[in-house]
Amino acid sequence: MHSHVRIRCKEIKMAAMSLTIKKTAEYIKRIDDYRAGRLSYDTLFLNVTSHCNANCVFCEVRSLDHSRDMSAQRIMQIMNEAHDMGIAKIFFSGGEPFVMKDIWLLIGHALTLGMKVSVVSNGLLVPSFGREQFDLLKKTDSIDISLESHIPAEHNRLRGGGDFFDKTVQGIRLLRQHGILVNINTVISTANYLELAALIAFVRKLDVEMINFQPLHIWSNYHDALPRSKTAYALDAATLADFDKSMDQALAMEKSTGQKSNLKRIRPWIKQYFLAQLKNDGRIWMKDVVPDFKCVEVFTKLFLHSDGGVQPCAMLSPLDNAADKTLADAVKCLRKTKAMIRQGQFPEECHKCSCQMMLNYNFSVMINPLTNIKNAVMLALDYLR
Ligand SMILES: C[S@@+](CC[C@H](N)C(=O)[O-])C[C@H]1O[C@@H](n2cnc3c(N)ncnc32)[C@H](O)[C@@H]1O
Ligand code: SF4
Ligand code: SF4
Repeated sequence: MHSHVRIRCKEIKMAAMSLTIKKTAEYIKRIDDYRAGRLSYDTLFLNVTSHCNANCVFCEVRSLDHSRDMSAQRIMQIMNEAHDMGIAKIFFSGGEPFVMKDIWLLIGHALTLGMKVSVVSNGLLVPSFGREQFDLLKKTDSIDISLESHIPAEHNRLRGGGDFFDKTVQGIRLLRQHGILVNINTVISTANYLELAALIAFVRKLDVEMINFQPLHIWSNYHDALPRSKTAYALDAATLADFDKSMDQALAMEKSTGQKSNLKRIRPWIKQYFLAQLKNDGRIWMKDVVPDFKCVEVFTKLFLHSDGGVQPCAMLSPLDNAADKTLADAVKCLRKTKAMIRQGQFPEECHKCSCQMMLNYNFSVMINPLTNIKNAVMLALDYLR
């Protein structure tokens, strides 16, 4: 090997090692802050609109009442208030954030405040963006695009439109051509659970950063929506054995292509999640996975519905509203719930928990590895692999 190549490899190894040390130090500080009750909100998930241009079979956005959506002016004030509270990162979601005509103002405002920005989108409108819009998106952290399958007809069926796959994939290509970082969000359901490896191979060619898989949840995405039956899309005991094999194939595909995903991190609990929600006996199922389960995410992430409803997390209903009071005032309503959760008493609604489980699982194991010894060993083996 040439000496300059050897030096370059050494530099890369040292950079990776110092990054790992930095991350570990940050994690230890987080555990310390949690124990001392010092954690504060750092991330805001903001549904900017209840409108959407799709009609996904597992989402009930179409039944939402739009009349109470907050104005762009109020949303901008909320961003100022969030910034004053020390919140440094914002995710714009919805409904479909890009159908809101003022989304560009909102993104620009967040960037002016110095906040990190990501947009969660179905990607359908990206092909219609102009140069100025792509230039603004270049300043964001990422655009997180939902893609359910590498098979066009399957994605279209799930998302409710005849040409959605083509538009979304074209959108991903355009974002990448402009140098914008793209992550993919994929909901694991009965429609795609055997196709994960093929999806990984497909998105690898689109040059995306990461695929974030989420189990399909059968609960309503919005507290004020008409429920939609989704159980046909949730994996059950009969499908889970094949799902295991499919996850093996997907992980092998990840390894051979170099495409990153979160599959390894959700694997320790995803099957139990599917079984628990179909059983629906109100148990806080996370405690069956990690004996000493802790929810840390409720202390650092804040969720706002498009009407200003303040939620402890994406799955729990709003407890107050920030439409006509300051955000700092509105979040006070969450204190009691958070205090209970700190003591291990979870609200009944927590039996639906899914989207924050990946981070909560790791945290619960890391903070208490001896009590959660089985999981700690699994995590350590995964890390070494
Ligand atoms: C409600 S959507 C809003 C943003 C945008 N319209 C989109 O689809 O990406 C936010 C995320 O929730 C996911 N989602 C919707 N319904 C779901 C369900 N029943 N289970 C799990 N994830 C779901 C979507 O796929 C998307 O990644
Ligand atoms: S998941 Fe997103 S794109 Fe699909 S209907 Fe819901 S809000 Fe719209
Ligand atoms: S549903 Fe999950 S993330 Fe939300 S508060 Fe409960 S345990 Fe935490």
